[in-house]
Amino acid sequence: MDLVAWREALRVRVKLLSTTMRALYETVDGPSTFLVSSTRLGGKHGYDAAGAAAPLGGAVTGFTKSYKRERPDSLVKAVDFTLDRQADEIATLLVGETLADPGAVEIGYNDGLRWTVGLAERPAADGLAGMQLTKDSVFVVTGAAGSIVSAITADLAEHSGGTFYLLDLVPRPDPNDPDIRKFSVDRDGLRHDIFERRKATGERVTPAMVERDIAGLERAHAALTAIEAVEKAGGVAHYISANLLDADAVAEAIDTVRANHGHIDVLLHAGGLEISKRLRDKGAAEYDLVFDVKSDGWFALLHAIGDLPLGATVAFSSIAGRFGNAGQTDYSAANDLLCKMTSNFRTTRPATRGIAIDWTAWDKIGMASRGSIPAIMAKAGIDISTRASACRSFATS
Ligand SMILES: NC(=O)c1ccc[n+]([C@@H]2O[C@H](COP(=O)([O-])OP(=O)(O)OC[C@H]3O[C@@H](n4cnc5c(N)ncnc54)[C@H](OP(=O)(O)O)[C@@H]3O)[C@@H](O)[C@H]2O)c1
Repeated sequence: MDLVAWREALRVRVKLLSTTMRALYETVDGPSTFLVSSTRLGGKHGYDAAGAAAPLGGAVTGFTKSYKRERPDSLVKAVDFTLDRQADEIATLLVGETLADPGAVEIGYNDGLRWTVGLAERPAADGLAGMQLTKDSVFVVTGAAGSIVSAITADLAEHSGGTFYLLDLVPRPDPNDPDIRKFSVDRDGLRHDIFERRKATGERVTPAMVERDIAGLERAHAALTAIEAVEKAGGVAHYISANLLDADAVAEAIDTVRANHGHIDVLLHAGGLEISKRLRDKGAAEYDLVFDVKSDGWFALLHAIGDLPLGATVAFSSIAGRFGNAGQTDYSAANDLLCKMTSNFRTTRPATRGIAIDWTAWDKIGMASRGSIPAIMAKAGIDISTRASACRSFATS
């Protein structure tokens, strides 16, 4: 598959679905209305030893779960089948699903049984030998200026001393920039400085403008922290400013890794953004941006990697991908796609250890610590993760 085919396959599966449901948003709302989507992930949504069969369906499932969160009184289901199920049987079963059991969202048909997805608490360690990370290990990290990514990179660097290729949109940070330095020690003082500096130019300064500047500095600070952590651990950091939507730039970065090392030990795909808005209010361009950075970025990376030996991939997904979330039909679709692509490695890339982490919100740092999200999480009773416990979970995975 090339990037054009990948994009077209996802346009047909999930972009058209989102356009349709945006148009039907007021219609498919409440009792006696339904959205039933259907996939061929293998009948168990990829949560079995076989792994996801037709993994692009993950985007459809992710979308559907979030639609349910936005329209809780409608019957909304993602129904999964095996690859060999006949169309007429599927049609009959889908009609049946519209008529019963409105409480279950993820349904699958496999082995003559009707399944749903449950949760069980298990240790992350699976009993298999873990990876040994050493100073010879090569890491490629996207979203490297992300706050939680920087924390994980620092932890990986400390425990390996390896070589890191750090990719992000953000330009290479200047270690001598006094604002970046001040960000870590006196954020309120920095806010004041920025306010005064902008005011001195004669413009009308709003808190939102100051927060935008702070957000940029947060990125630069996170990128610099990651670089310095790698260097402090005796490793090598290559910082590459690249847009994940630019497949040529991604390929160029991977070609550099190929030429320098001939393999990648860990590919950590964490680049992304989220713009929480109900589907009704979300324009197609916004939807595409949120979805494409994760989805096309992933494709561009794996396409460029090709048959280069790849020890492990870690996709940074979210509880929004696992359970759906109101206002995140795009983000949830992209994250669930990454999970199902990872599950698909069981058959398509058995030599690569595929890991997808559905992070809950991190405390104090990262995208879920911004704006009203912490208050919403607290109200919903959702546990948040401390940096230390998140790093521990990551290491165990
Ligand atoms: N923080 C959490 O609690 C949490 C919870 C669940 C899942 N996650 C996932 O974990 C990952 C990292 O989260 P975070 O909180 O560290 O996020 P973050 O601070 O917002 O960082 C994400 C990074 O990705 C970059 N990025 C965005 N668009 C890009 C593009 N087109 N090309 C290259 N880079 C791009 C962003 O750059 P710009 O800012 O310049 O756009 C940013 O530096 C995300 O994938 C997120 O979905 C995080």
